[in-house]
Amino acid sequence: MNKKIVGVVLALVLIASLLAGCAGQPAASASASAPAAATSADAAKTAAASSAAVTASASGIQVGIVLPTKDEPRWIQDETRFKSILDQAGFTYQILFSQGSSATEKTNVETLISKGIKVMIICPQDTAAVASTIDEAKKAGVISIGYDRLITGTDSLDYNVGFNSESVGVAQGQYLVDKATGTGNPLYLYAGAMSDENAFVFFKGAWSVLQPKIVDGTFVIKNSSEALKVKDTKDLTREQMAAIIGQITTNWDFNVAKSKAQANLTAVKAADKGNVFVLAPNDGTARSIADVFAADKDVKSYVITGQDAEKASIQYIIDGKQSMTVLKDTRNLTTAAVEMAKQILTGKTPETNSTFNNGKKDVPMMQLAVVTVTEDSVKKDIFDSGYYVATDFKGVN
Ligand code: BGC
Repeated sequence: MNKKIVGVVLALVLIASLLAGCAGQPAASASASAPAAATSADAAKTAAASSAAVTASASGIQVGIVLPTKDEPRWIQDETRFKSILDQAGFTYQILFSQGSSATEKTNVETLISKGIKVMIICPQDTAAVASTIDEAKKAGVISIGYDRLITGTDSLDYNVGFNSESVGVAQGQYLVDKATGTGNPLYLYAGAMSDENAFVFFKGAWSVLQPKIVDGTFVIKNSSEALKVKDTKDLTREQMAAIIGQITTNWDFNVAKSKAQANLTAVKAADKGNVFVLAPNDGTARSIADVFAADKDVKSYVITGQDAEKASIQYIIDGKQSMTVLKDTRNLTTAAVEMAKQILTGKTPETNSTFNNGKKDVPMMQLAVVTVTEDSVKKDIFDSGYYVATDFKGVN
């Protein structure tokens, strides 16, 4: 509860300071905003395959944004929120998508550098492979802000803005723990992509609460021999975690998630099904996995986690097909990232509230809180908060 209040207060402070900043913007930036708004609309119509919005003025672009893929609703939503906040803030900007390719990502960054960006907000496809691209941006004098995903292995990364990813995993694991009674409950584990540091942090958080409940017999892991090997270990090494995630990865891909769930259910006996518990790392994969479990005649019931509060998953929750999701409010995240960019562009030191060690340095970070959403809290957390409009959903009273 306290965390939620802190999150809301933080968001309000950020929004207020962003608006205040807009009003008091220097003439040079303010004048850049007028052509920006016009070219944004025009360019959006003729956007190239990888480009979502182009707001270049003759003098160049101030803020470059690189997002991982258009194939997941999550990132499209970030794009939409960025556009409205940046238009309002009056910055010239361009948003490019890397479509799951580190090579495209590098080209995108180089394109943005060539257009004169001063600040880059980047959510990489591969959080380790992007290090050399961040180095390249640094050499070109660009300040880099990691967005949502934790970028590792470079001291060129200037800032990060994101959520408390460990708490996402804890929320998922805790939900399963709270729903389980008795012993011997079948547990199926799934994780994100090996190339995404966040996937490790989410799993770490989930394992921290699930592992004691595996040891005491509440849960029995059914789909990971690697997790079974280390079930007595609370604090896993990187190697142990990599071995598990290597086995249960969805690669953040709906189809991989689906085929992995199908293979898992085919490999076990009817007795390993019944009333099952599923750790699904995010909403897209949760919906795929939930559909597979729902279709299996030996699965009597399932409890399944998620993350992102994607629209389709809110509908799944309303329909009783997904049990929970973790809301990572993209309004707050985009606002925090733009606020950071604004502070950099106006020569100030961005406000941060934590750091994360990326293997090379302690990266100053603005870390935001997350909210667990269940069928009982959809109204309050999603509709009343204005995140989505209730009339966009079926079966809402
Ligand atoms: C993000 C999640 C997202 C996942 C797949 C993670 O790094 O934190 O919000 O669902 O990537 O794109």
